[in-house]
Amino acid sequence: MLSNAVQLRPLTVADWAAVHDWARRPEVCRYQTWGPNTPEQTRAFVQAAVDAWAQHPPVRFVFAVVSGEQVVGNAELKLRGAHIGEIGYGVHPRVWGRGIATETARHLLGYGFRQHHLHRIFATCDPRNAASGRVLRKIGMTYEGRMREAVLIRDGWRDSDLYAILRHEWHPADQPAGSAGQCVQRPVDVGLGVVDVERRA
Ligand SMILES: CC(C)(COP(=O)(O)OP(=O)(O)OC[C@H]1O[C@@H](n2cnc3c(N)ncnc32)[C@H](O)[C@@H]1OP(=O)(O)O)[C@@H](O)C(=O)NCCC(=O)NCCS
Repeated sequence: MLSNAVQLRPLTVADWAAVHDWARRPEVCRYQTWGPNTPEQTRAFVQAAVDAWAQHPPVRFVFAVVSGEQVVGNAELKLRGAHIGEIGYGVHPRVWGRGIATETARHLLGYGFRQHHLHRIFATCDPRNAASGRVLRKIGMTYEGRMREAVLIRDGWRDSDLYAILRHEWHPADQPAGSAGQCVQRPVDVGLGVVDVERRA
């Protein structure tokens, strides 16, 4: 496993081209309801993500995932009510398999449990998306079951696997120091709150 330095910071409009470089690829969108994106669709996604940080109160927090000073992914926490959050992430195929999504997802947990004092954080993924299911297990989530034909994507109605972790199951000590949970103090401060984490080899 390679070693990575992974940073999370709020997504900005200037990130759109980097985001588009994976959002336009069929292999990235294979199990998603969206894509492959046109440039206009990616611009709209990024603008909505940036706007979401400024809403009052904000309920959607979209980060750029930075590794080696390049934006290599995006990651998101959505509040689903006062105590529950949902996470999601995507990484450029050129850096798949280096643990970047796993570290990213860990930071999202820290951000949700520390900054938003959540009780439960969940994620869903297509059962065919083995890499994402593995990431969710690696960060300590429990597989809770399969929702039948819950998502309509290009190849039809697809099942969706549900994973979740509860606050008392989360171990902050597992997180590298300087995670998003500690550093993004005020979510409305777009452009601040860069998180710098050295991944363990
Ligand atoms: C899913 C995704 C985020 C994973 O990113 P990544 O940075 O490569 O993930 P990581 O390297 O942290 O971990 C991947 C794990 O899955 C494993 N894996 C990869 N492909 C696999 C497969 N076909 N079957 C089983 N395991 C697989 C890897 O071996 C690794 O596990 P390990 O550390 O135990 O060896 C990336 O493939 C992606 O962006 N996909 C498109 C968007 C997407 O599907 N997002 C998730 C929506 S639910």
